[in-house]
Amino acid sequence: MLVTTKEMLAKAQKENYAVPAFNIHNLETLRVVVETAAELKSPVIVAGTPGTIEYAGGDYLVAIAETATKKHDIPIALHLDHFENIDKIKEYVNAGFTSAMIDASKEDFENNINTVKKVVEYAHAKGSVVEAELGKLGGVEDDLVVDEKDAMYTNPDSAKEFVERTGIDSLAVAIGTAHGLYKGEPKLDFERLKEIRSKVDVPLVLHGASDVPENLVKEAIKFGICKVNIATDLKIPFSDAVKQYFKENPDANDPRKYMTPGKEAMKEVVIAKIKMCGSENKA
Ligand code: 13P
Repeated sequence: MLVTTKEMLAKAQKENYAVPAFNIHNLETLRVVVETAAELKSPVIVAGTPGTIEYAGGDYLVAIAETATKKHDIPIALHLDHFENIDKIKEYVNAGFTSAMIDASKEDFENNINTVKKVVEYAHAKGSVVEAELGKLGGVEDDLVVDEKDAMYTNPDSAKEFVERTGIDSLAVAIGTAHGLYKGEPKLDFERLKEIRSKVDVPLVLHGASDVPENLVKEAIKFGICKVNIATDLKIPFSDAVKQYFKENPDANDPRKYMTPGKEAMKEVVIAKIKMCGSENKA
């Protein structure tokens, strides 16, 4: 059975590692994620953005993920990533998603709280858990585009109030990461992270972890991050490998053949990210 992120993140928080949340898009990428996590005995969060879920079908993804839980003896959570529409969250929680991120970070503080509270009330009644974001990450994620200059770091005191008033299960923090690739090396505000950690007791989530040097992600985990979101770092090697395959085999048309190098390239990254998070053998 699919589980929520509640217990896996509580264990990660206690033992000071992180559970990776991988953004998937279809059967192939979902299977690479869960099968690799199972090989490494890592708990795993399978995440889909609104665009992905519209593309692949929420009920199809639930069925595939449920099937994976029957085959692999690791905790697997199915997560809605960056949802802004409450009705969509309700629909997919009812379909079997065990965790939801409501992203109302564009709204002001009070409206963010009010929106998140509605989702918490609904999801908790259904046995699902809720992640929300305070502050604003720059970059591009799905249809969500936030200009660098509009990015805003999380205020530690507001974070404490936000968590208390919303009743969320985990908090996404803005400490200098951005979605997608970086122009230079990202600078993470660890002092801010430590202060948030000292004031907030729910698990903290790092979005935009692709293209962040491994040592920085590890530092972030040391200072309290226990969920690490990865999307771009999976998409690039997958598509590069498929492009290379077509370059070498311009007449290819068998998906079983041209998808395979993509899956293999993605698997290497999933292995590296699980090791970076320290979640190997924590299932
Ligand atoms: P990246 O694409 O930068 O890895 O961001 C992923 C993410 O934060 C998904 O919510």
